[in-house]
Amino acid sequence: MSKKNVSKIQPELFEFTNENLKKAEKEIKKYPKGREASAVLALLYIVQSQNDNWIPLAAIKYVSKLLSMPYIKVYEVATFYSMFNLTSVGKYFVQVCTTTPCMIRGAKKITDICKKYISQNEDELSENKLCSWREVECLGACVSAPMMQINQDYFEDLDETKTEEIIQKLLKNEFPEPGSVKNRKNNSPEKGKTTLLEVKNA
Ligand code: FES
Repeated sequence: MSKKNVSKIQPELFEFTNENLKKAEKEIKKYPKGREASAVLALLYIVQSQNDNWIPLAAIKYVSKLLSMPYIKVYEVATFYSMFNLTSVGKYFVQVCTTTPCMIRGAKKITDICKKYISQNEDELSENKLCSWREVECLGACVSAPMMQINQDYFEDLDETKTEEIIQKLLKNEFPEPGSVKNRKNNSPEKGKTTLLEVKNA
């Protein structure tokens, strides 16, 4: 189970907007009667998109009522998956992969830069409240290690200089160009391809 911080500041109430309630009902209808609990992931995702990218405990209670599930079961789901945030995150949410391939290729330097420029601890907002960061498990882009995800985009083949540039831009409320900082396309080799030479676009 992933390690999760839960926000100390919690709103007392949560409910879906009319539009999101309709979306939730549509998700629930996808499952047979008695199996409504299967919509829990989809509903938590809707909560998060409505609530500035994090899920308060009041929303977990709200979802548990909507799905007639025990509160603890919804809490278990929300704490298990790292894509659900239980504490407020910045407008720019930086997730640094620190699993072995990224670690071997320098992920520690990236987390040090996050500590220096964003906040000393994970899940804390930067002074200007724009950014927060967190260490995460493998994000499936090991071939371009080290890497980080910012909101929905991947930043790959990072080094210290590029990482600093990216973080500085975020802190100025600018979103940097995502992708490989070495301009690699489709995980192609750094020094040009050496196999499948005869295959076009390989
Ligand atoms: S180990 Fe970092 S993306 Fe897989």
